[in-house]
Amino acid sequence: DKGLAVFTSGGDSQGMNAAVRACVRMAIYLGCKAYFIREGYQGMVDGGDCIQEANWASVSSIIHRGGTIIGSARCQDFRERAGRLKAANNLVQRGITNLVVIGGDGSLTGANLFRQEWSSLLDELAKNSTITAEQRNKYNVLHIVGLVGSIDNDFCGTDMTIGTDTALHRIIEAIDAIASTAYSHQRTFIMEVMGRHCGYLPVVAGIISEADYVFLPEHPPPQDWPDRLILQLQQASKRSRLMSVSSDFYLAISAAIATEADFMLIPEEPVELLWQDRLCKKLEQERSAGQRLNIVIVAEGAMDREGHPITAEDVRKVIDERLKHDARITVLGHVQRGGNPSAFDRVLACRMGAEATLALMEATSESLPVVISLDGNQTVRVPLMECVERTQAVAKAMKERRWADAVKLRGRS
Ligand code: F6P
Repeated sequence: DKGLAVFTSGGDSQGMNAAVRACVRMAIYLGCKAYFIREGYQGMVDGGDCIQEANWASVSSIIHRGGTIIGSARCQDFRERAGRLKAANNLVQRGITNLVVIGGDGSLTGANLFRQEWSSLLDELAKNSTITAEQRNKYNVLHIVGLVGSIDNDFCGTDMTIGTDTALHRIIEAIDAIASTAYSHQRTFIMEVMGRHCGYLPVVAGIISEADYVFLPEHPPPQDWPDRLILQLQQASKRSRLMSVSSDFYLAISAAIATEADFMLIPEEPVELLWQDRLCKKLEQERSAGQRLNIVIVAEGAMDREGHPITAEDVRKVIDERLKHDARITVLGHVQRGGNPSAFDRVLACRMGAEATLALMEATSESLPVVISLDGNQTVRVPLMECVERTQAVAKAMKERRWADAVKLRGRS
């Protein structure tokens, strides 16, 4: 009579629906019950209609849809023990002791805390007779499996997170569109991309449209790769594109490469304090070589080596004041997180969802929580807390401006 519940938490990402569908269908295929928990942790706390049994048909025609059909929320109540007590009761009353959480590192950390507390939560519920002694014993262990749904690709331990590939498509479509109008008017466009603390997407976007330098997960670049990349891009005097990147290393770097970047600003390798001089020199060189446009990509978390933020407006002002270019800003914003998932994200989410259900069904009382990751072309189970701790260590290193440590800790992706 095993069953599982699946929920999505934190910021949405394209492919979450495909993951939900795969979890549900694999559970049904194995003869288990599957539940949705709507609105993330809030739905677990609220119970009622938020927790519903799912069937084969309830996940039909969602694989192609962006966002998450079961809703997502950032939940204050679950941060308090009282909220988690309510959540535990709602699960026990339905006989649910297996959870698939689809979200970022914060959501996965919350799930692990809940698992660790589970026994004491059940003791308390039994003590005040909210659950019976029989329920207390029967539902003694909570199993959780994490799937990382995030466009940022900022989670340590997986080569790709669900949604990153689609966001990358959105970014390069936008850059291609902007480039044509920039060309007509000889303008400079400063494009702000998402990614919080990780600059992957801009770099990969750069790679897929005439790369001068390619990053492969199987061949980690040397420590000084950003300098080498910038040098290489500067030497490539093709079209003039300047990309200043990102809060998100993956987003920023990907887009830069995919769109023929000449220059990048990334959070993990902030530019020197005189970045303005370098920027203007580069733009001037390109224009005097006959180029008609510049594209500068600024990720939302870009900063200099002293940790001062560099915004799209900072970059625009420098270009306007020093070079007198007609410079405009385009903020891509949540467009990057919306729309239909790419083929890659659908397949990734299907494989990860199915593997999550299998991991839960195979779990024993000794099993530790895992996150389903992509390792090369394989979906693998890796210890959840190890990945979460590494991801948090990267954030801490960046906050303390230990950039090289951050890149080292992040590893392959
Ligand atoms: O983590 C995903 C992400 O889209 C980041 O790239 C961005 O910084 C953040 O979420 C935006 O969050 P919100 O939708 O809450 O504004």
